[in-house]
Amino acid sequence: MSLRFITAEEAASYVNHGDNVGFSGFTPAGAPKAIPTAIAERAKAEHAKGNPFKIGMFTGASTGDSLDGALARAEAIAFRTPYQSNKDLKSLVNAGDTVYFDMHLSQLAQELRYGFLGKINVAVIEASDITEQGEIVPTTGVGILPTIARLADKILIELNHKHPKALRGMHDIYEPLDPPYRREIPVFSVSDRCGSEVLKVDPSKIIGVVETDRPDEVGGFAPVDAVTAKIGENVANFLAGQIKAGIVPKEFLPIQSGVGNIANAVLGSLGANPDIPAFKMYTEVIQDAVIGLMKDGNVTFASGCSLTISPSVLEEVYADLNFFRDKFILRPQEISNNPEVVRRLGLITINTALEADIFGNVNSTHVLGKQMMNGIGGSGDFTRNSFFSIFTCPSVAKGGKISAIVPMVSHIDHNEHSVNVLITEQGIADLRGKSPVQRAQIIIENCVHPEYKQLLWDYVKLSNKVYTPQTLSASFGMHINFAETGDMRTTNWGNFIR
Ligand code: COA
Repeated sequence: MSLRFITAEEAASYVNHGDNVGFSGFTPAGAPKAIPTAIAERAKAEHAKGNPFKIGMFTGASTGDSLDGALARAEAIAFRTPYQSNKDLKSLVNAGDTVYFDMHLSQLAQELRYGFLGKINVAVIEASDITEQGEIVPTTGVGILPTIARLADKILIELNHKHPKALRGMHDIYEPLDPPYRREIPVFSVSDRCGSEVLKVDPSKIIGVVETDRPDEVGGFAPVDAVTAKIGENVANFLAGQIKAGIVPKEFLPIQSGVGNIANAVLGSLGANPDIPAFKMYTEVIQDAVIGLMKDGNVTFASGCSLTISPSVLEEVYADLNFFRDKFILRPQEISNNPEVVRRLGLITINTALEADIFGNVNSTHVLGKQMMNGIGGSGDFTRNSFFSIFTCPSVAKGGKISAIVPMVSHIDHNEHSVNVLITEQGIADLRGKSPVQRAQIIIENCVHPEYKQLLWDYVKLSNKVYTPQTLSASFGMHINFAETGDMRTTNWGNFIR
């Protein structure tokens, strides 16, 4: 079957109001760009004629502005899962103007197969190469690609010449069978391959191929500052101590590192610590810091779901692909984040909290309990199944007006049973084997900012001789005081005692 080359506008004409559309990629890496923008234009044109036009959107994670941003601005999103970070989409989500389902990323592909989330009508896939036999070489992100390609009735391809065909061989495409036929996923060490180097689709489903030449829309990372550098140093010292104590094997264990500026800074610190051996990563997102660590020999291999790296760093990788070729594998998120594999490999997981409480519960998603930041992403997939889990955050936000450590988190993503270690720039709280009272003591002593220590000690003293010293009428007192006065520091527990 010969491939039909079409315009982005023609491709968009195959997407109809009410369709569920699956997009390739993970973060802006590997996400299509031209076809979503054309779908957004089609939505605007239909709206101008008074016709409804909204679609359900399924992606690996967040995407670039020409996907989430364009479709949000065109008011074309009826439903969105599993993760987002675009500012225009976030505004819609937080105004209640679109339905957003925040979920563990490892579960999306299987939940689509199980039929929990409706049918996939169209798959839009970015490729670096494609053959007439339906063999597709993905680009920098894989996400839910194999599943949407198999489930969709129609496939639209964006062949992006910005990515070299030489990416062939750097992906590992595997889709497990569904219960009751599921078997073990045969990944027994970080660099094991379990699938195929290309995605194979039914060529008769490919409606057309749109050629583009557009870079991934990955933004840069904030430079490391004194606070993030200190957090990173604390993480590295903690891990070095665990090796010395014989808890982490001397060969070390694979690292998973979360998304964002703090995670990027923490990873840089691991490379700089002479007591941390060169390590491998089994992670979701491979960010900028990993590339530097690979060049310096500090990271020897990285398995991930995407290469989410700034355009200039990606150019460096492409210019030296022979060096990087045997150091990466990009897999579907069902495999990169798979709980079975995470537990088998014994990952040390390092993710970021927005807020933690003195008992060890973590909120990674909701600002002050109500506003969605991004989503839980893969943090739950990794945390719950880790060798041990670490959460990091600066001890305060907004110039000290918000303490990141509070009596009770305003939303729970990771509970006290899964959070093993909490690290701020102030210090380290190892929560393993500790009761709620002991956890509160060590978190306040080691992790809380000095301006909030006394306030939190006073909170604990509100209860006496109980298992968890929580005072329900006051547990959100710091949040309420912030809402009323703009500062948590002036909280007076006396105002909350009933
Ligand atoms: N209350 C209110 N706001 C807070 C806060 C709190 N307790 N703690 C932090 N913030 C604000 C910060 O001030 C900052 O706001 P600003 O952008 O207006 O300055 C913002 O929240 C977070 O800072 P940022 O520098 O953007 O952090 P980051 O890039 O390191 O991202 C998360 C942190 C938590 C948002 C990000 O890691 C995330 O989305 N995590 C969930 C998903 C995940 O962990 N995935 C990884 C799995 S592999």
